[in-house]
Amino acid sequence: MSITPQPTSGAGKPETYATIVAQLGGLLASERDPWANSANAAALLFASLPGLNWAGFYFLRGGELVVGPFQGKPACIRIALGRGVCGAAAAARRTLLVPDVHAFADHIACDVASNSEVVVPIVAADRLVGVLDLDSPVLARFDEADARGLERVAGMIAAGCDWRLAGIDNF
Ligand code: SME
Repeated sequence: MSITPQPTSGAGKPETYATIVAQLGGLLASERDPWANSANAAALLFASLPGLNWAGFYFLRGGELVVGPFQGKPACIRIALGRGVCGAAAAARRTLLVPDVHAFADHIACDVASNSEVVVPIVAADRLVGVLDLDSPVLARFDEADARGLERVAGMIAAGCDWRLAGIDNF
């Protein structure tokens, strides 16, 4: 698969996410394994979206969020529901856009280079699976266009995997 990095902001974002959605659709079409699909999705996002230093997943296992496939530096392994940006987004089951992580009191710093973050919950059959987390060294890197695009990505991953294969709570 050929992946071309897309523009950072402005009018290019809808096109960027349209390309990501098309490529992710191809990756998910013939595979339902959660580890395989989330690994490829993390690689696709990291290669397609400029200005990231981390892109990946935390999955709900044993009552807490446990790091899954990702691209970037080694990260915090376990995050309690409700803690950090990831745990807050998971507990509320809603997307959190954090333009400046240093202004988010409970932010968990895995990479000191991170300055902004977006976390999108992954929900399948009305059950929380985990979160998709993207970090950037650029302040306010993520906006509503990213949130909507990534929610589409999270929805495709939620529907495109058999979560019983991954030891996710409640599956
Ligand atoms: N910053 C996150 C922790 C995960 S890392 O960014 C990969 C948080 O506050 O939950």
